[in-house]
Amino acid sequence: MATLISPQLAVNGGTPVRQRPWPAWPVWDEADARAVADVVRSGQWFAMSGRGVNAFADRFAAFHHARFGAPCTNGTQAIEIALRAVGVKAGDEVIVPPYTFIATASACVEVNADPVFADIDPDTYNLDPRAAEAAITDRTTAIIAVHIAGCPADMDAFKELARRRGLALIEDAAQAHAAEWRGRRVGALGDAGTFSFQASKNLNAGEGGIVLTDRPEVYDRAWSLINVGRVRDGGRYEHALLSGNYRMTEWQGALLLSQMRRLEEQTQRRNENALYLARQLEEIPGIRPLQRDERITCHAYHLFIFRYSAAEFGGLPRQEFLRALSAEGVPCSPGYTPLYRSDAFRPDRATHPFAGERDYAAAHCPVAERVCAEEAVWLTQPMLLGTRADMDDIAAAIRKIRAAM
Ligand SMILES: Cc1ncc(COP(=O)(O)O)c(C=O)c1O
Repeated sequence: MATLISPQLAVNGGTPVRQRPWPAWPVWDEADARAVADVVRSGQWFAMSGRGVNAFADRFAAFHHARFGAPCTNGTQAIEIALRAVGVKAGDEVIVPPYTFIATASACVEVNADPVFADIDPDTYNLDPRAAEAAITDRTTAIIAVHIAGCPADMDAFKELARRRGLALIEDAAQAHAAEWRGRRVGALGDAGTFSFQASKNLNAGEGGIVLTDRPEVYDRAWSLINVGRVRDGGRYEHALLSGNYRMTEWQGALLLSQMRRLEEQTQRRNENALYLARQLEEIPGIRPLQRDERITCHAYHLFIFRYSAAEFGGLPRQEFLRALSAEGVPCSPGYTPLYRSDAFRPDRATHPFAGERDYAAAHCPVAERVCAEEAVWLTQPMLLGTRADMDDIAAAIRKIRAAM
């Protein structure tokens, strides 16, 4: 097994390529603080009668070219609400990728549906439409296409597949604020789309979520599910459904509305830096950035992911490469493990009514397994808010490690 022995490398006590800090996250100013303080001063602290959440919902939906937006507590519950709003019922199967945050699959379980894992595309790490189609059974009622890392999934293929097989199509856009597929922003390209405003996300208020849709009946149902089953435009004690309270708070709405001032400019900066970085990394043997489909007119770059080949680095395992790159001052990580390998999916841990019916550990998605075990390297979105010189540092650190092999 290859090891790193050069004394020049920071991991062995050499001088790191980079010693300056990376851009801080979150980005905020006095106007953000005032937006929250204004809610306090207004005394309008309840979202159903306040202005923050409603104004944010309209603004965020319009920005994403969606007719309706139903804001809620977080991105996980947004998926649960979307599933219920499009009609997924207990016992239904929902096709999901194994390469995503656990919420994509656990949300299915929370609504008593059964997540079925289909493999990812090796060039984009997004759910592979052919694998998704092969996983359809007579119990399947929905597909969740996750825009992983902020990279839109192949929505032409998923829309065609969903239409042909009579399935609901949900976008998990938790990482994809402002991303575009053929000039249209993600979120309402299928039947419903969900976003997260958790602290690490490209638009955040610490926590928060939203369901977007173009379909009035899906919106009415999502709104109702978020609001203890109330009827939209109905009475305060008029309930048409049994559901919980998943409302976003006024503080979150006001802060998100204020934070939206930066979304477009930050997204553009991430795109410029990411494309510049990708061009540099493509020239380093053994490093391949993920492919960007030419139908993607804007990528959210919540993560910048590249593929590492140990064979091209003298057999250096990815874990050692990550250790060396971090030591050079470039924070990086290996990312996810395939969800079906998580302890949470062990049959003895299952809490849903179909426990024991499916052995999740028997799932086998070879691409996701290889990617997770040896290939993926993640950089996070705040790093892309810096300058070209910052991107040069990333490439220089990788070149330095390679030259030391
Ligand atoms: C792909 C994906 N789906 C869902 C979620 C869940 O969002 P939240 O953390 O707001 O519940 C996240 C974020 O954590 C995510 O990355």
